[in-house]
Amino acid sequence: MKHQVENRASLKPDAHIGVVGAGAMGAGIAQVASQAGHKVFLYDQNEEASFRAKESISLLLNKKVAKGTITREHYDTCIANIIPLHSLDELKSADLIIEAIVETLEIKQSLFRALELICKPECILASNTSSISITAIASCLKYPERFLGLHFFNPAPVMPLVEVISGLASDQLIAKQLYDTCLLWGKTPVKTKSTPGFIVNRVARPFYAEALRIYEEQGAGIQQIDRLMKTAGQFRMGPFELMDLIGHDVNYAVTLSVFNAYYQDPKFKPSLTQKSLVEAGFLGKKAARGFYTYDDSGQKLNTASNFSELGNEKLCVLNASDSYKTSSQVELLPVSNRGGHSQPNVKNQPAHPLKRLITRFNKIGLISESQLQNEIPFTYLKYGEAVVALTDGRTATERSALEAIDNLILIDMAFDFEQVTSLGMSVSAFSSNQAIQDAMTLFKLIEIDLIALEDIPGLIVMRTLAMLTNEAAQTCMQGIASAKDIDIAMCYGVNYPQGPLAWGQRVGVDYVFQVLSHLQAHYGEERYRASSLIKRLSLTGETFY
Ligand code: NAI
Repeated sequence: MKHQVENRASLKPDAHIGVVGAGAMGAGIAQVASQAGHKVFLYDQNEEASFRAKESISLLLNKKVAKGTITREHYDTCIANIIPLHSLDELKSADLIIEAIVETLEIKQSLFRALELICKPECILASNTSSISITAIASCLKYPERFLGLHFFNPAPVMPLVEVISGLASDQLIAKQLYDTCLLWGKTPVKTKSTPGFIVNRVARPFYAEALRIYEEQGAGIQQIDRLMKTAGQFRMGPFELMDLIGHDVNYAVTLSVFNAYYQDPKFKPSLTQKSLVEAGFLGKKAARGFYTYDDSGQKLNTASNFSELGNEKLCVLNASDSYKTSSQVELLPVSNRGGHSQPNVKNQPAHPLKRLITRFNKIGLISESQLQNEIPFTYLKYGEAVVALTDGRTATERSALEAIDNLILIDMAFDFEQVTSLGMSVSAFSSNQAIQDAMTLFKLIEIDLIALEDIPGLIVMRTLAMLTNEAAQTCMQGIASAKDIDIAMCYGVNYPQGPLAWGQRVGVDYVFQVLSHLQAHYGEERYRASSLIKRLSLTGETFY
């Protein structure tokens, strides 16, 4: 018999919320629900933990009163509404129970079986699990249709995103009810099916994986990668800083669990560098040592000694020259037809993102108005001896050989070419020092520092973006979540400057496909295979939205 579910409106403030597990997440969720006006019943197998959680919420809310962001009356109501329990049985009046206990399937199942015997027939049951299948937890329940995932992000009162996760048996009307309830709680919910990593922990994998790989191949140093991802990519934190913050034990475990859950798909392959950090106990900020070292107050100090900074020795000695005057013009050269891998539809070649850059050259008179208005696609900027192009996923040396351009210098993608102040640069092995200096000078004239990297295929930001867009597209194609919800999840769950689908679309889906195809050809690995959706859109010119 199907569990009876009549009330479909979002939960009203008079609904009782149960929270089981009063650790970091449980306490945060209890705070969110109490601030939304609910009575919150907090249970932990360790009774002291519930009382401690209430105290920590009280401290946090007191700070808000001091800052004037909430009133003393609101504080009093919230605190009065949080009721630590002595036994699970006291949850019988709850309308929604959110579990945030230890991350073990069998323990979660045994809790929910016990809750089914205690709670009302219409009570909704939810898990805050970050990695266990919602379908699997529900399989032990008598009424699996009222069970869903409600995945908050840490710290729950601060992070807006909540993934509302449906297992195979979950009732879609209850999913909608939870979604609407999250909205009332001031959260930003997204709907997703239960799949390993759900949205965020799946789509975000390349953010860490590509940075780790570039470092492992000695393409760039830890600080260089973090700096470029923040300045050119406009990510709030660099991948190494973020891994240090999350903790390598946690981040490595998530990567390993996603890798195994997708039957060891090479896309999700964990990194040996991160594994060795876990083995050494260099777990990141909480251990005062990870990729970086930290002082007692958690302030970042420097790169840890075992991660000495790399640098391209040949290029480090070169600098922008002062001898060039803005009177030298930049030539815009068209797409080369010589050689290269088979290129997918090139009608929106990287010209589009670069166009934003050339308006900066136009402002200082290096590119004329007529060049700017010219609709003919261009690929290269020629200045002095330098021929500069945006990465297309090949190394500069490979492209230089195939297109017979000796002095080829490739630049990385920027989130906003109109604002960017530093860009990654890779140089063909055939480039002269003069050409490299010319490129540095050219960009210095528009206040951009070119950071010399090894000859990395796809450079740093573009390669990460291509892989993020690819995973997001695959998630969308499989009907796990909508394009809009995927982008919202990545912006509100991990603070990306733009959703990877909207960003990929902005630079051109065919361009993203081209970069992925070249990366796959370069490495000969399945890891870089493009999603069918990306392939299709790159041919039809359609977009994700
Ligand atoms: P935590 O270790 O801080 O707290 C867990 C609490 O659950 C402890 O107080 C423990 O005494 C209690 N507990 C354990 N087994 C219990 C049981 N059978 N019955 C009642 N209480 C029990 O853990 P945290 O970080 O709060 O994580 C909780 C859940 O939230 C996990 O499923 C985790 O994967 C998930 N999660 C964690 C995030 C994080 O960043 N910490 C983010 C999103 C989800």
